[in-house]
Amino acid sequence: MEKQIAVIRGDGIGPEIVDQALRVLDAVAEKYGHTFTYTDVDMGGIAIDKWGEPLPAAMLDKCLAADSVLLGAVGGPKWDGLPGDKRPEKGLLALRAGMGLYANNRPAKLWPQLAAASPLKPEIVEKGIDFIVVRELIGGVYFGSHTTAECGGEQKATDVMSYAEHEIERIGRIAFETARKRRNKVTSVDKANVLDTSRLWRKVMHRLAEEYPDVEYADMLVDNTAMQIVKAPSQFDVVVTENMFGDILSDEASMITGSIGMIPSSSLGEGSRGLYEPIHGSAPDIAGQNKANPIGTILSAAMMLKYSFDLDEEAAAIEAAVNKALDAGLRTGDMMAEGCTLVSCSEMGDAILKNL
Ligand code: NAD
Ligand code: IPM
Ligand code: MN
Repeated sequence: MEKQIAVIRGDGIGPEIVDQALRVLDAVAEKYGHTFTYTDVDMGGIAIDKWGEPLPAAMLDKCLAADSVLLGAVGGPKWDGLPGDKRPEKGLLALRAGMGLYANNRPAKLWPQLAAASPLKPEIVEKGIDFIVVRELIGGVYFGSHTTAECGGEQKATDVMSYAEHEIERIGRIAFETARKRRNKVTSVDKANVLDTSRLWRKVMHRLAEEYPDVEYADMLVDNTAMQIVKAPSQFDVVVTENMFGDILSDEASMITGSIGMIPSSSLGEGSRGLYEPIHGSAPDIAGQNKANPIGTILSAAMMLKYSFDLDEEAAAIEAAVNKALDAGLRTGDMMAEGCTLVSCSEMGDAILKNL
């Protein structure tokens, strides 16, 4: 199979973790007789420095022309003073919207080897953590108008949150279909006791729940969900929620599995082209030190093989290679535990490659 992959290394630890994922993709290509070619795309802080904007039109075009996109992370203190629409993060939002990627899947699954790295009590962890956050990705407050204006002698800032029924319905459908392939349970998370967008969200989800009578369905308020994720995470299978709630809950969900550095994601719309990225950020505090955990990015590459290219066996081979590295007790600093061996980002890459 021949595939062309747009590669966005981005900022901070982005280049370090993406390089490890590309080594793994190359090894898979060689082993299974595929050809993956890579097109470099500048997005985020590096694009601001080189081109004066976080996502130049030509860069979006390169992503749209590719079979899929692999991303490290963007952002960093260097660009934090810029106005909202000129920041690195704006490039990422424009990319997601420009590619029409409304469905962001963020699996929170405990690798048993990492149980000791979870901050939860062993008796909670033992019950199992295996759920997926299905996050709406191109609507809500992220994409409403953002303004700051003078008002009565002080500044007043406004961010508008809105959702149309069709935006809720399409992400809801993804959640119910995903549940059918898993344990048949959807928890829809909202703030319907306060927000109009959430009341509409709930109405649309209830309509869908009737279409999927075989799937167990529950509503949960977002504040309670944040609490339930640490109290009893085994109750969740598919958690579907709007953009900002999903951003926050997925970081929380990642940590209970041992480290945010482990969690991959897929972002999909209509069609098979997707954007694959770890859920974490550019980790400026450890950037350039070869310390970052590359596994979230490597597993994102595996998700790309599975969901965009239908290469299930190849994806499973990457997961098995990661599993072996964890079995061998190798850990980057973020998930280090007693009795394990601390390795660098590239050493983790070496080990996974060797296991392939
Ligand atoms: P972050 O996820 O970058 O880091 C939070 C903490 O987790 C840090 O202590 C970091 O060292 C650690 N961490 C994250 N990924 C790790 C990994 N792979 N291995 C080891 N440790 C890891 O979040 P932040 O510090 O809030 O944000 C930093 C920058 O990243 C900001 O500019 C933010 O906007 C950006 N960001 C980008 C993305 C993205 O590109 N998708 C996602 C989140 C944040
Ligand atoms: C993520 C990040 C992004 C988001 C930022 C960088 C725009 O936190 O991918 O989780 O909020 O979606
Ligand atoms: Mn986030």
